Amino acid sequence: MATMVEEVGQSLTDREVLDGALKEERIPEPCIVVIFGASGDLTKRKLLPALFHLEQQHLLPKNFVVVGVARRDLSGTFAGDMQDGILKGGGVDRGDSALKPFIDRVKYFATEFDNDEGFDKLKAFLANLDQQYGTKGNRLFYLAVAPEYFADIAQRLAKHDMTQPKDKSQWINVIIEKPFGTDLESARQLNDELNKVLGENQIFRIDHYLGKETVQNILVFRFGNGIFEPVWNRNFIDSVEITAAESIGIEGRGPFYEKAGALRDVIQNHVMEVLSFVAMEPPDSFQSKAVRTEKLKVWRAIEPIPAENTVRGQYGPGTIDGQPVIGYRQEDRVSPQSTTETFAGMKLFVENWRWAGVPFYIRAGKRLKKRVTEVTVTFKQAPLHLFKSNNPKSQLCPNVLKIRIQPDEGISLEIGAKVPGPTTNVKSVRMNFSYAEAFGKSSANGYERLLLDSMFGDGTLFAHRDGVEATWALMTPILEAWKANPPKDFPNYAAGTWGPKCADELLARDGRRWHTK
Ligand code: BG6
Repeated sequence: MATMVEEVGQSLTDREVLDGALKEERIPEPCIVVIFGASGDLTKRKLLPALFHLEQQHLLPKNFVVVGVARRDLSGTFAGDMQDGILKGGGVDRGDSALKPFIDRVKYFATEFDNDEGFDKLKAFLANLDQQYGTKGNRLFYLAVAPEYFADIAQRLAKHDMTQPKDKSQWINVIIEKPFGTDLESARQLNDELNKVLGENQIFRIDHYLGKETVQNILVFRFGNGIFEPVWNRNFIDSVEITAAESIGIEGRGPFYEKAGALRDVIQNHVMEVLSFVAMEPPDSFQSKAVRTEKLKVWRAIEPIPAENTVRGQYGPGTIDGQPVIGYRQEDRVSPQSTTETFAGMKLFVENWRWAGVPFYIRAGKRLKKRVTEVTVTFKQAPLHLFKSNNPKSQLCPNVLKIRIQPDEGISLEIGAKVPGPTTNVKSVRMNFSYAEAFGKSSANGYERLLLDSMFGDGTLFAHRDGVEATWALMTPILEAWKANPPKDFPNYAAGTWGPKCADELLARDGRRWHTK
């Protein structure tokens, strides 16, 4: 197995200097990060560890404060709890000299989200911190709350004069977590409500897939190298597969998942984002607007997806890693007759000049055989099997490019090679680039880059209103068709398998099979 990528041309010392210079430039302005819903899991497990990793790398401004906001009074325990989260997140030991000064700047404020008096007091609390820590009125509000509170909180912040910067030197940005609506209409409604009080450039809709190095690397792979773009089209590509498989179940999120399902939870957002990176035209710059325009063009070029090109499934009991696991209908707070899909798949076409006629097969599911998210690009066969006459048994295999988003992050390319020996036998071998081998293990959890970008006001790696609505416009008719025709065969796959039979049949109809396994 050959390693395709090694650091070439630049000594490590040069690179370190360059990294240092970039970091110097990329320190955001002083600010307060205000996390609503701070008592939830996300704050402790992801956000605080991410912020602390940024602090460790000296990427945060010196004048920086975190304020957790939630309903319960946790002022006595919050900072300690966040420290536990940071330590559990890995890569940090208790004696880290940056830890205590960081935790000293983690504050807590309790209020109901619909209480005007509470918001007035919050405003004064933040103004006070500005005085104390020199945070200059800059704010990053993070709404880590249930989606039904997004618009209410934004509007109450506006009512209490907390959403508009006082002058051009100040910034106030708001991050919201998915789901951004549950269908096209609700997404539009939410966007309208938010846009009443916030400029679109103040809204940062997080899709944590865009924070993943390997997803960002799709663009670098395509547009930072000269040799792939010329073959990245219908003339050379046979088909594209995107698989987002998880072996975990719904992890106690029954009430959420019952209303969501795999299509809303993962395909409408994460998979569609990945697909847009795979299929988009080169933007004219790596600026938010340019990238967003090209992504939008992809989604808008996707033909309406007929129900017969979609498949769905729900897991029953089975075995994962040798351990028996229960079926979806037996999960906590899930209806024993539930028709929610835990697996969704489809075939779609991006009908533009580059991709016309190339099928994109996508699927996402829970309790599948293993956790793997991967893009597979299958190239067309060589036009002629030149070596057949030497050895009639020899087969030509198509070149297959795999972009491994997680785990085992990397890229591989399968090529045909001559098997040593007196005949010309061709066998498929793999060239492999592994992130861990080339760059060492990264501790970044995806949120680091996104938090930093939102402090800079850089929306390149965030979902935007028009994109969210475009992907909902594609998914909503499928959801409606599924609702009108409830599944009769659920559960239709055993936990620990690769999903329902109908998913294999979807590709078999076209003489293909899923590559990721
Ligand atoms: C979330 C979904 O958005 O993404 C979860 O709500 C899913 O159900 C998760 O498990 C997958 O993220 P990752 O980074 O583990 O692939």
